[in-house]
Amino acid sequence: MNTRTDQPQSQLLSQPTVTTAPGKVILFGEHAVVYNRPAIAVPVTDVRATATISPGEPGSGIWILAADLPAPDGEPGGHRYRLRDAPADDPLRASVELALDAFRHGESARDLLIAVTSTIPIARGMGSGAAVATAVVRAIGRHSGHDAQPEKISSLVYEVEKLHHGTPSGIDNTVVAYAQPVFFVRGRGITRLSVGAPLNLVIGDTGVVSSTREVVGDVRRRWSADTEGYEGVFDQIGALARQAKSVIERGYPKDVGRLMDENHELLITLGVSSPELDKLVEAAKTAGALGAKMSGAGWGGNMLALVEAERTPTMAGALQAAGAVSTIFSRIS
Ligand code: MEV
Repeated sequence: MNTRTDQPQSQLLSQPTVTTAPGKVILFGEHAVVYNRPAIAVPVTDVRATATISPGEPGSGIWILAADLPAPDGEPGGHRYRLRDAPADDPLRASVELALDAFRHGESARDLLIAVTSTIPIARGMGSGAAVATAVVRAIGRHSGHDAQPEKISSLVYEVEKLHHGTPSGIDNTVVAYAQPVFFVRGRGITRLSVGAPLNLVIGDTGVVSSTREVVGDVRRRWSADTEGYEGVFDQIGALARQAKSVIERGYPKDVGRLMDENHELLITLGVSSPELDKLVEAAKTAGALGAKMSGAGWGGNMLALVEAERTPTMAGALQAAGAVSTIFSRIS
């Protein structure tokens, strides 16, 4: 992160501005959170999106260099394109334009090269889209001389999230912009969550790409056909998230694990798990996890195993043996 906000504007604009944002996982309450139940999400700081803004050639306009993200036409990464040539709903274009307007970035300083990189797995429920947008919005704010508060960044990124996901609850942009564990209820201010005893998470990637928009849309269709049944499941998930808040704050990882197991069963009932996710969850339990569940939209993406610290290497090995294409260790405190 740069710390150049006390320098003159002219000097600010001549130097690169670098900002980052973490990935995230949902510990409790995915899907139910879209229907106004509480959920808990934590940042994963071991993976990050980074935005670097440098002054461009005079008259060049704004260029995006997306080294490892898909281009607007869906082609894999490594793309450099002029902002105004991208479709209006391209999330990077939307992030840049929203931020330029919000921070009243001067017209005269709109010759920019915005380089975006990310180590967050894409389309695996780890908030890659929200993190890229957060890094870009924060970078433009800072480049315009504003060190914007997380609340402002989060609300701008929420607008971008709508392009990715259709009806996002707002939890992804919130946890990524605040970069803190949060207890989140849609439409209410955030509650920062204090973590009484560290939570050691091994995150296992099924390698299966899944679209949050599609999974959330499918749940919506089934909820419309059986509203009472689905509302009942959402109530149970919401109750788990409330209990989880209490045991996380008081520092009882074993109870957190038990609640994760229960949440996973309810996600199976909702129809958002998958054979690959269930296999990894089962393997985590067999290898001694305190609890395990899928995380994020489902049908692929990642699962979480909560473990005692000394078991993390064994757990990573067990998940890989059961088919995880990669594992990430994250200690939440
Ligand atoms: C996606 O990370 C979490 C979902 O609950 C969708 C949302 O909250 O917008 C599946």
